[in-house]
Amino acid sequence: MQLRVGIIGARRGRGLAAGLRAVPDCEVVAVCDLNSGVRAEAAEALEVEHLFEDYDEMLDSGLINTAVVATPQNLHVEHACMALARGFHVLSEVPAAVDLTQCCRLVDAVRASGGTYMISENANYMMANVIVREMARAGAFGEMYFGEGEYTHDLKDLSERTPWRRRWQTGRNGVTYPTHQLGPVLQWMGQRLTSVSCLGSGHHHEDPRGDEYEQEDCVLMICRTDRGGLVKVRQDIISDRPSITTAYSLQGTEGCYESARTRDEDGRVWLKGRAENHETWQPLSELAEEFLPAEHRDPPPEAAQAGHGGSDYWVARDFAMAVHSGEPPELDVYFAMDITVPGIISEVSIGLGGAPVPVPDFRDYETGSNIVPVARG
Ligand SMILES: NC(=O)c1ccc[n+]([C@@H]2O[C@H](COP(=O)([O-])OP(=O)(O)OC[C@H]3O[C@@H](n4cnc5c(N)ncnc54)[C@H](O)[C@@H]3O)[C@@H](O)[C@H]2O)c1
Repeated sequence: MQLRVGIIGARRGRGLAAGLRAVPDCEVVAVCDLNSGVRAEAAEALEVEHLFEDYDEMLDSGLINTAVVATPQNLHVEHACMALARGFHVLSEVPAAVDLTQCCRLVDAVRASGGTYMISENANYMMANVIVREMARAGAFGEMYFGEGEYTHDLKDLSERTPWRRRWQTGRNGVTYPTHQLGPVLQWMGQRLTSVSCLGSGHHHEDPRGDEYEQEDCVLMICRTDRGGLVKVRQDIISDRPSITTAYSLQGTEGCYESARTRDEDGRVWLKGRAENHETWQPLSELAEEFLPAEHRDPPPEAAQAGHGGSDYWVARDFAMAVHSGEPPELDVYFAMDITVPGIISEVSIGLGGAPVPVPDFRDYETGSNIVPVARG
């Protein structure tokens, strides 16, 4: 089946669409954005002739059967559901939703739709993370019981240029942007989070109007997994500092992984059966030949040019493959909930001084009901 794609939210959507254009049987045919300049620029870059200001009009134009949703994060569910209600396929930007009511609405819509839904978590497709995924699946780390993800990215300026971030990322307290950290870590561990405790480091910065950010400067969440393991997430989107957005760590019974902390470094692993001794790290890149899937070792030129280290291409490719196969993608709506809901729950926990709050499993969610978070006593 040919995917005929319309993007809504043409700033970030433009990058994702570039990945989709490179995928066979996939054509980007329409662009929708409220901003005429953004719309026109994206249409020119993507060589698209159909431009829309109104999303309903794009959906009803007869031109598309697939929507790429890259609007501000509070609008993802609304825009995904409008497409799913028409039986269209949806590739949604992260996070999937901003509250539990939206999560219920999204899961209801995916269950009712014939369309495929996938969360566009590109961190899962970054090369280092793909190598670690394959190593984890091959058992190289043994039983995994600790994972860590870190997102330190000063979003103060961007919060002024994109005011939705001032409301939904820096304007709430908790891990308001959790998916780049949790996406790879939960995929490696093959576990889901069952409870979240979240604490913040206090407020040391003000926005240009002199208002304190609702978000504390450094926010940490410690999560329990369904197999008794731990996951730690650090989000710092307020502090003055250079960014580190792809730092990870993984520990298992047979080995461990420490990612690079800057772009010019290599990650490193220690594997019990292979290491010379207890203190010898091995560069991650040395394991690429053995563990990186062949298609990633010899990618099409479009993948090399795609954004976020080529990962925007692989997200698009897996989404298109899922639509073509009719099978749910690995990053389906339940995985989207696994990496989105802990962040929502962290806001409850931080308000309770760090009390552990259970994370609902949307696989057990009864269609049409509502979920209210309950703190443990
Ligand atoms: N995965 C990644 O690496 C990554 C990177 C950047 C952004 N994002 C995500 O992408 C999304 C967009 O981020 P951004 O930086 O492009 O934001 P942005 O504010 O720069 O762009 C959002 C665009 O959506 C348009 N828009 C808003 N409401 C609309 C509506 N109702 N109809 C049509 N157009 C509408 C706006 O006009 C704007 O052009 C966010 O959810 C963000 O979290 C993900």
